[in-house]
Amino acid sequence: LIAMQTIETVTEVREFVRRRRCEGRRIGLVPTMGALHAGHLALVDHAARRADVVVVSVFVNPTQFGPGEDFDRYPRPVADDLALLDREGISAVFLPSSEEMYPSGAASGVRLVVGALSDQLCGRYRPGHFDGVVQIVAKLFAAIEPDVAVFGLKDAQQFVIIEHLVAALGFGVEIDGVETVREPDGLAMSSRNRYLNPSLRGQAVVLNRALASARACLEQGEQAREPLVTAMLQELRQAPDFAVQYAEMVDARTLQPLQHVEQGQRVLFAIAGHLDSTRLIDSAFVTAP
Ligand code: PAF
Repeated sequence: LIAMQTIETVTEVREFVRRRRCEGRRIGLVPTMGALHAGHLALVDHAARRADVVVVSVFVNPTQFGPGEDFDRYPRPVADDLALLDREGISAVFLPSSEEMYPSGAASGVRLVVGALSDQLCGRYRPGHFDGVVQIVAKLFAAIEPDVAVFGLKDAQQFVIIEHLVAALGFGVEIDGVETVREPDGLAMSSRNRYLNPSLRGQAVVLNRALASARACLEQGEQAREPLVTAMLQELRQAPDFAVQYAEMVDARTLQPLQHVEQGQRVLFAIAGHLDSTRLIDSAFVTAP
């Protein structure tokens, strides 16, 4: 087995990838913010099946956090992350500093802006968040030029926006989405779950239950918005400390809210809210029968 390389600069990661590409290898990228869990490992496994060389980036991207969000307290267990990735047998970890990724400062320089796709769902509650996400993802694509990049479908809006980013800027990369990995009780794995105390952790199962309830209603033939959204809200109310931001039913491609679902339409159910100060999201793509 070849030892995993830890790379800190854009120049070095570009050179690392260029050599592998010259040898005819396919390059896979898994962008992360670290604090890795089984959900990330599912992305790495998927990338390893789709590419010969897998690069995982670990970077807590300042431009996607708003004022008052958890940038400062976001977990950064770098040594644990590196040990985990080493055991996975990946080729390289790209671990840049903020100065390396934003040489003219996080707030200045050239910036990308997401259009109407960021007016819905999380974008409404996190102004500028998706601008920051596409900024860093575009920079990673430019530095690494992967053949395939892998993202989790839990961040459904992020996934759809990244597909649009690739089409808009013409990156030659395939975007693959991987199903959400869940705890045995159904809670979606997230780096932020570690903020939850046992009582909040117990209540966090309502997000998945709410999605399951809406899915069941849809699969039984319900097509109207009101009963489908109500099915989610009823489950969410079972958690006394969960403050709902949204429980939405949108078109999976345009992310526009749906009043009525057509036969065969691909729908995204999405939920966000706070358990105490921890913001949790979950989502499910479902095709209407
Ligand atoms: O999904 C994430 O962890 C982040 O938003 C990403 C894609 C790594 C960009 O910072």
